[in-house]
Amino acid sequence: MDNRPIGFLDSGVGGLTVVREFMRQLPHEEVIFIGDSARAPYGPRPAEQIREYTWELVNFLLTKDVKMIVLACNTATAVVWEEIKEKLDIPVLGVVLPGASAAIKATKTGKIGILGTPMTIQSDIYRQKIQSLSPETEVTGLACPKFVPLVESNSSQSSLAKKVVYETLEPMVGQVDTLVLGCTHYPILSPIIQNAMGPHVRLIDSGAETARDISVLLNYFQINRSRQAGEVHHQFYTTASPAAFKEIADSWLEQAIEVEHVDL
Ligand code: DGL
Repeated sequence: MDNRPIGFLDSGVGGLTVVREFMRQLPHEEVIFIGDSARAPYGPRPAEQIREYTWELVNFLLTKDVKMIVLACNTATAVVWEEIKEKLDIPVLGVVLPGASAAIKATKTGKIGILGTPMTIQSDIYRQKIQSLSPETEVTGLACPKFVPLVESNSSQSSLAKKVVYETLEPMVGQVDTLVLGCTHYPILSPIIQNAMGPHVRLIDSGAETARDISVLLNYFQINRSRQAGEVHHQFYTTASPAAFKEIADSWLEQAIEVEHVDL
């Protein structure tokens, strides 16, 4: 047993898609979330800057005495997961491997598409992970740099969002039977993405897949929170405006949360 919270980080609100699934699956675990919306998006930034910012978020979570850290950000996972995992003595999970494995299970035609930020696509991490497990699979990546700003500005339901998603996905339509949402912001756009791709394409939410893996790790290390530990108290932090973060978070998590601003 370990009653300490689990730390989640993201460049912004996207990591909440992982947290939502996590809270649904493990409602008695405590969450500490930090989103770096002041500096989002990370995707178009150079690797060295993404590395530096991600370490700042990790160090913030470590001050909160977390028992595990989840990089709820594909971009950070692609750039710095291996390094963080090696340096810390608590378990550190990324979001890429769970999504890659789920896509391999889901595809029937062996044609998988990956949507991600410019850095995630450029890193080629999904293709490498998928083809190391399943060498015959064809993997097509597509960078979607306009998606994260739509989600961060709470415009995911707008007509602009629909136009941008349809236009961006055009080269992918009809090419794959399975599409990995390789950025934790993208599930917030998933109804539009599903419409653009058509009903037969299977969308893989890398965050939701990760939530399952967290549960496995908690059991493996025997660090579940005791059910007698009392009421859970989640903490949410943002480097930008708490009000803007709260608006997106409340609707996505379907509950009213408290958000604090933090300067890193
Ligand atoms: N949500 C993040 C990801 O999964 C990063 C988005 C961004 O800041 O570009 O990649």
